[in-house]
Amino acid sequence: MCGIVGVTGNENAVAMLMEGLRRLEYRGYDSAGIYVNDQNGHDFLVKEKGRVADLANALTPEVQGTTGIAHTRWATHGQPSIENAHPQISADDRFYLVHNGVIENYLELKNKYLADVEFKSETDTEVVVQLIDYFVLHDNLTTLEAFRKVLYLVGDSAYGFLLMDREQPNTLFVAKNKSPLLVGVGNGFNVVCSDAIAMLNYTHDFIEMQDGEIMILTPDKVDIEDEEGHHITRLPFHVNMDASEADKGTYPHYMLKEIDDQPAVMRKLVQTYFNDAGEIDLDSDLLADLKAADRLYIIAAGTSYHAGLVGERLFERLAKIPTEAHVASEFAYNTPILSAKPFFIFLSQSGETADSREVLTNIGEAGYHSLTITNVQNSTLSREATYTMLLEAGPEIAVASTKAYTAQIAVEAIVAKALGEANGTDAASQFELANQLGLVANGIQALVDQKEVFEKIAQDNFVDQHDAFYIGRGIDYAVSLEASLKLKEITYIHSEGVAAGELKHGPIALIEAGTPVIGLITQSKTASLTRSNLAETAARGSHIMTIVSKSLANVHDDIILEDVDETLAPLLTIIPAQLISYYTSLLKGLDVDKPRNLAKSVTVQ
Ligand code: F6R
Repeated sequence: MCGIVGVTGNENAVAMLMEGLRRLEYRGYDSAGIYVNDQNGHDFLVKEKGRVADLANALTPEVQGTTGIAHTRWATHGQPSIENAHPQISADDRFYLVHNGVIENYLELKNKYLADVEFKSETDTEVVVQLIDYFVLHDNLTTLEAFRKVLYLVGDSAYGFLLMDREQPNTLFVAKNKSPLLVGVGNGFNVVCSDAIAMLNYTHDFIEMQDGEIMILTPDKVDIEDEEGHHITRLPFHVNMDASEADKGTYPHYMLKEIDDQPAVMRKLVQTYFNDAGEIDLDSDLLADLKAADRLYIIAAGTSYHAGLVGERLFERLAKIPTEAHVASEFAYNTPILSAKPFFIFLSQSGETADSREVLTNIGEAGYHSLTITNVQNSTLSREATYTMLLEAGPEIAVASTKAYTAQIAVEAIVAKALGEANGTDAASQFELANQLGLVANGIQALVDQKEVFEKIAQDNFVDQHDAFYIGRGIDYAVSLEASLKLKEITYIHSEGVAAGELKHGPIALIEAGTPVIGLITQSKTASLTRSNLAETAARGSHIMTIVSKSLANVHDDIILEDVDETLAPLLTIIPAQLISYYTSLLKGLDVDKPRNLAKSVTVQ
């Protein structure tokens, strides 16, 4: 949510900054801006409403500089416009600031210190840059002192800040709280970015930044100071990823590539978490903590929460442990009464979601242990949890999550089986998970190989619709929520996932002639009930379709899935829904990878 990048070096930084912005655009795409200074008295500020490509078009050849900062925005305070785009500037044009996050007390600070200043934007960020200028001018503070003072004043607000001072044009002042920022170390240059992906073409060595710290970067030096100004030494870590892994290659969209990646991700997870003897390799301390727990709490948001709902069933069935999945933003401020020995599992593709982090901080302070299952090594939720397991899915760039969802379910199954075996359950010991994940990979491949089928369904049954419903029971209901989210977020068709048995208690009133209702049928004990519920909507004019496991299918069914263990069926059921959403969005002429109003990696609450 908002991408920020900064470079200090001795060569022209514009190309690096613009590449960084392009790679961070998934974090926000309603406006963008860049400020560069050539250290010879020339500097340039360019801002545009719209995409990074619009900013690139606005750059003229004379825009050059060796040090600079850039930003791609997801609006929080103030609508998308050139004035509200970052960098934000102090009244005397001396300070330039880019920001990811929200300053909660900005109005209070503005009224207290800046009543006489004329503001050019509606952003909370402008208050910060004007305040820095104010303390430099009125209190005679150095830039670093003023920066530190303002960080103190904004308190526990969320921020990743990159500040430049025209009078120290080769220096970047960097600070973060609750928003991700990494410093990349180069030869003769240093960089800062919201995500390592932005700068992998220039460096693979990054220094983690902790909340409350300030880093001061010049081309040859990275100074780290804690909240009290004490110097800290921290070695860089190496990111073993090639920049090309974050490219979409010959695919027209990241989303289609990421859907197609799923069979390989399933196989990679088997390689990663099973040893040569076919046993699960799980951290022994983690297993001991899980075994000691009397209840599991899965905390997540959006698609990851939907993966958590599937996880509930996996843990209860395989490990026989009571498990509850919770929406992070609700759990954080309306925490239920906890069991005597809870253990927390955080699911987060990005590892940065602010809602989940709020819960992690709270339960950490209460002394509880936790596992983060994430796609991003060294992400905040990964660093702050007791244990981490990686999704091994490769970068997920499309805003609509696909392969992270299936990877999360597969990792939950791995943990559930390991715990079940440790607990001595038959369900776990008899569950041939590695073999099943191989079948799942083949089953996904069979689906992604029939793309034309899903394109036709999208064209015939979805493109012209206003509403659509996915229905199912049990684990199929959990998938119906995710299927429906996929559809609504990239096609803007109103869609609901409904527990099939609940239709007659209200939602069936919404059925009109031709409304698509898709039944998910993979659970033998409820298959016929879901079919009856579908028939009830058909009797009221809906257009019904079915996504059914082979062993439960009949000649009238529309999409047939390969048979896998019923608890792993979600790994297949979701694929048609992902592809139908993709093609519907494409056929409607929408921006599949960057749907309106959304952004990936939601770092504000
Ligand atoms: C939807 C989607 C979001 C995310 C949610 C949590 O396609 O991607 O609903 O799942 O914002 O993000 P993470 O998993 O990064 O915590």
